[in-house]
Parts: sequence; structure tokens; C-alpha cells
Amino acid sequence: MRILYIGDVVGSFGVRVLKSKLNELKNDQKIDLIVAQSENVTNGKGISAADFKYLKDLGVDFFTGGNHSFVESSINVYLDNPSEPIIGPANYDHRSKTIGVKELQTKYGKILFVSLLGQIVGKDSGLLTVNPLKLIDQILEERKQIDYFAKIVNIHGDFSSEKVVMGHYLDGRVSAVIGDHWHVPTADARLLSSKTAYISDVGMTGALDSSLGVKYEVIIARWRDNLKNRHILEDSGSWQLNGVIVEIDNQSKKPVLIEGLNLRGENL
Ligand SMILES: [Fe+2]
Ligand SMILES: [Fe+2]
Repeated sequence: MRILYIGDVVGSFGVRVLKSKLNELKNDQKIDLIVAQSENVTNGKGISAADFKYLKDLGVDFFTGGNHSFVESSINVYLDNPSEPIIGPANYDHRSKTIGVKELQTKYGKILFVSLLGQIVGKDSGLLTVNPLKLIDQILEERKQIDYFAKIVNIHGDFSSEKVVMGHYLDGRVSAVIGDHWHVPTADARLLSSKTAYISDVGMTGALDSSLGVKYEVIIARWRDNLKNRHILEDSGSWQLNGVIVEIDNQSKKPVLIEGLNLRGENL
């Protein structure tokens, strides 16, 4: 099974990139399952019910979550429904344990998905109540009798050190530990020593010439001139689509490959 995990889809530009590239990518790369980080889809923060449905129709099979997952309230009914393929971070607040862990049935078998916030972005968001290392132990322990085809853990965090540690901590216990939140891809995709597929950050999907998806001018004015301005997303110019492909052997259910996918282009 070949799984494509797409980094944070930012705003309508990110959605446009998927609309134009996803089908071709799925065929060219022989992808069986598409996962996307959904925390920045609608105006850069959260994902609305309408955008969730739109991306599902485009072919995204499962949606992971981050610190902005709860901004669009129309998504809550989907987050709360165990059979809807979207999660928020499992350690974000008291209600998240049920919405941060879900299963997806595929023709290869059942896949477990978990999103976790790193400690720094969690503290900044003011709501982190559960240590992600302890929580993932508990989540895996509670499900140890279940025969999963794959277990995918998303670590949405600020510090490279905490993401690296999460990879090491779960090496051999899950199929993949996939980092995001930076919007900038790292070059460290590899199988760890006990064969868990790992990357510190997959990067983002949307405007290439931007500050993580936001217009440069907005960030410069805030930084240089101390303006209390609002984010304005970049909606034109070059695009990028970043992710990783994780391949899992259908018989042994072991990861056999992880490779970065970093596409760029001029016009859309
Ligand atoms: Fe993000
Ligand atoms: Fe984030």
C-alpha cells in the first residue's frame, strides 16, 4: 500500500493546488490512500464542513489535525463522529481523546490514525493538558489486541527535538511518525532502525512565495513596524505541494519506504 501524506493545505490556494494536481499524482505515483493535514484549509485556520466535503470529493481519504483544528465550528460534528475521516489533536483538551484517534477501514485492513500536538505549540495554544508521550502509550496500549494494517501518528510540533524524540519513542511500535506544523519540509525522511517511517516535517501545500502561506508584506509590517495586523493569505504566484509517500508491504505490514515529495510550479 502506498500512502501519500500531504503537508498543511493552506487556504484556497492550497485547495486549488490539490484540485489541479491530486488526480495526476495519484495515478503517476500509484497511490492507494491520500491523507492531508487539514488545520489551515479555510482562510488559513481550521477547515469548514464545506471544505472538508470538497476535499473528500477531490480524493483525500483522511484528514489529520493541528493547533487550528477547532477554529471552524462547522467541522465539530464531523470531528465528533468516529466514522468521519478527520481528527484533531488527541492531547489538545479533555474532549479530544475521542476525536484525535480514529480508524479507517481500507481494502488492505484497518488503519489507526492519531494526531498529537508537540509541547511548545500546545503550551502556546494554552490548552494542552496531556503529555503526548504518555497519551500515545495509553492509546496504543488500549488497542494492542486490534490487528491494524498500519498505525500512522502525526506529530504537529514546533521543536525538531520533540519530533525526533517522538519518532525514536515510537520506532517499531507504529508504521509512521509524520511531523508537520512548520510548513517547511525537512530532508530527513527515513526508515528508523526498527523500521518506522519518519520525517520531522512534511512542509505545506499552497503559495510558495509566502511566509508559510501568508503574504510577506503582512509579516514584515508586523515584525519590523510592530503593526497588529491580521493574516492575509497569498493567493497568487508560484505554488508548492509537499508531502511524503509511505509504502507498507501488503503481506508483512511493515513500512518499506518513505520518500519526500516536493512539487513546485509557476501557474495555476
Ligand atoms: Fe499549519
Ligand atoms: Fe499548526
